[in-house]
Amino acid sequence: MSGSDTKLRVAIIGAGNVAERVHASFYHDCVDTELVGVCDNRLEQAQMFANKYGCAAFDDVETLLATLHPDVVSVCSPNRFHHQHVLAALAAGCHVMCEKPPAMTSEEAHEMLLAARKARKVLAYDFHHRFALDVQLMREQVAAGTLGEVYVTTVKALRRCGVPGWGVFTNKSLQGGGPLIDIGIHMLDAAMFVLGFPLVKSVTAHSFRKLGTIKNTGQFGTWDPASFTVEDALFATLEFNNGGILRLETSFALNIPEQSVMNVQFCGDKAGATLFPAHIYHDDAGELVTLMQREVADDQRHFRSMSAFVDRVKGSPVAVAEAQQGYEIQRLVEAIYAAAEQGVTIAL
Ligand SMILES: NC(=O)c1ccc[n+]([C@@H]2O[C@H](COP(=O)([O-])OP(=O)(O)OC[C@H]3O[C@@H](n4cnc5c(N)ncnc54)[C@H](O)[C@@H]3O)[C@@H](O)[C@H]2O)c1
Repeated sequence: MSGSDTKLRVAIIGAGNVAERVHASFYHDCVDTELVGVCDNRLEQAQMFANKYGCAAFDDVETLLATLHPDVVSVCSPNRFHHQHVLAALAAGCHVMCEKPPAMTSEEAHEMLLAARKARKVLAYDFHHRFALDVQLMREQVAAGTLGEVYVTTVKALRRCGVPGWGVFTNKSLQGGGPLIDIGIHMLDAAMFVLGFPLVKSVTAHSFRKLGTIKNTGQFGTWDPASFTVEDALFATLEFNNGGILRLETSFALNIPEQSVMNVQFCGDKAGATLFPAHIYHDDAGELVTLMQREVADDQRHFRSMSAFVDRVKGSPVAVAEAQQGYEIQRLVEAIYAAAEQGVTIAL
C-alpha cells in the first residue's frame, strides 16, 4: 500500500466456496481493500470468479504474485496447498490470511510461522469462531476467575450426516483428515483460546470410518463412498499440565439425534459455562442459577475475523489468530491423529 488513503490490493488463491462466501465478499465490501486478482488451478473457475468481482484471473500462483504485486493474499486452496501458497505469498512480500487448518503437519505450520517472522508480515488463520462475542466474553470471564478452576472442557463438532459434498474433504492426501481437521479444529481452537492455551501433557484418541464408506448422501450433498479415505468420527482426550482435561468429539457422520452440534462446555469449581450462546451458570442448592447470558450466539464472527486481519495489516494492534497459535493447534491435531492411528497415548 503506497499511502494511508490507498486501498490494500488483495489477491485470493483458491476460488471455491469459502473464497466466495467469506473472503471475496468481505474484501468487496470493505472500504480498505480492493480485490485485484484470483488464482485457481482450474482457469475457468478463476475466470468466472474474476468476472464476478472485476479482477484478473490466473491459474499459476507465482505468475499472479509477480504480475500483480498484491499487498495481501487470502489462501483458500485445499489444505494440502496452504503451506506452499502461504510461503510463496510471504516471499513475495504479502500479508497473508490463510484458511484453517494452517497446514497438513506441525512442521509445515512451524515453517510458515518462521517465514512470517522473517518477512515481518502478518500471517493470520481464519479460526473465526474465536471472534464471536460469546468467545470473547467467555475468555474474559475465565481469565477473571468467574468459573474458578476449569477442570473439564467438552468440545463438540458433530454432524449426523454432513460429509461435504464439494471439494476434496473426503480425500486424506489433499485434506490431511476428516472432521477433526475440518470442523473439530474450529471448536478446539475456540476452547483453547478461552482456556488461555494451557500446556497439553498427553493425548489419547479413537477414530472411526464406519458410515462415510457406506452412505453417499447427506445435508451437504453427495460424495463417493469408494474414495472416502478420512475418518468419519473421532473422539479424543487431552490432559493438561494443570491437571484438567479436554474431551473432544467430532464427526462428519454419526448416528446422533442432532443434525449438527458445534459447541463447547466448560466445567469449573465455581461455575460452568456453555459457549454458543455464552451462558455461565452455577448450582445453588440444586437449582441452576444463571450468572451471565447472551441471548443469541454472535453470527458476525467471520466478518470480525476478516476485519481484525485487515485492521492488523493497517497497523492496529488488534488480536488475530496468530501464526504461533495456529502452529500449536496444528500440533494438537497431529498428536490426536497419531494417538488414534497408533492406538497409544502421545506425550507432548
Ligand atoms: N473458516 C471456515 O469456516 C472454512 C469454511 C470452508 C472452508 N474452509 C477452508 O478453506 C479451504 C477451501 O475450502 P472450500 O470449501 O472453499 O473448498 P473448495 O473446493 O470449494 O475450493 C477450493 C478451490 O481451490 C482450488 N484449488 C485446488 N488446488 C489448487 C491449487 N493448487 N492452486 C490454486 N487453487 C487450487 C480448487 O479448484 C477450488 O476452486 C480449505 O482449507 C477449508 O478447510 C474454511
